[in-house]
Amino acid sequence: MENYALPNEVSGGRMGGMKFLITAGPTREALDPVRYLTNRSTGRMGYALAGAARHEGHDVVLISGPTTLDVPEGVDFIQVETAQQMYDTVRDLLRGVDVAILCAAVADYRPVSVAEHKIKKSEGRLVLELERTPDILGSMRSEFGYKGVLVGFAAETQDLVAHAREKLLRKGCDMIVANDVSRPGIGFGSRENEVTLITADRAESLPRETKEWLAMRIVEHALSLLP
Ligand code: PMT
Repeated sequence: MENYALPNEVSGGRMGGMKFLITAGPTREALDPVRYLTNRSTGRMGYALAGAARHEGHDVVLISGPTTLDVPEGVDFIQVETAQQMYDTVRDLLRGVDVAILCAAVADYRPVSVAEHKIKKSEGRLVLELERTPDILGSMRSEFGYKGVLVGFAAETQDLVAHAREKLLRKGCDMIVANDVSRPGIGFGSRENEVTLITADRAESLPRETKEWLAMRIVEHALSLLP
């Protein structure tokens, strides 16, 4: 288990009292009773965001896939496992949310069926059939009717700003936090990250820093987008 040390500085801007919903961590999509598909997200970036928003006096609900992290103090916490569970939980908890930050690394595909018993080895290849999971970020405006500030993440390996801006427009986001997940030492699993904040008319690159420091900046920026 790990604890977060938040930076001592206090970000300026709006005094607490807003309601944040944050997703974090990976999802797990079962293949059989003992195996699943997942990814390298540790939840660190999302938990740092939850801690930063709480530190500023906001109400925070953190919806997380499986991680080994401690939940930041004072944060309401809901643990989920699958993309479908995360989708259902986000939809059910959106009422009254002012700022939603979707940082989870949600599996884009899941097995079409989950084997009832452990899949046995046999000669030759095993072919898995996968289907799309629900797109939580893409449903926020169109299906859930969410009207608050919407911040998505983009995990890219090339053309960071162009891909992120396309995501911003297609998913109705107010801001995309873009990170290059092909670079060593940042992104998935690391203590540090390097991100570009992309809004309709600007792209602001932040320096390589701890995820806790970056979380403060992201929360600050998201709050500045409130009407
Ligand atoms: O958890 P860490 O180890 O600290 O790593 C942090 C991180 C690399 C996971 C984080 O910084 C990050 O990039 N999170 C987003 C990862 C991701 O899945 O990116 P994407 O480009 O595939 O997805 C774009 C956006 O859609 C994201 O906001 C994602 O939460 C959302 N999404 C994706 C698929 C899906 N079915 N539903 C979604 O809501």
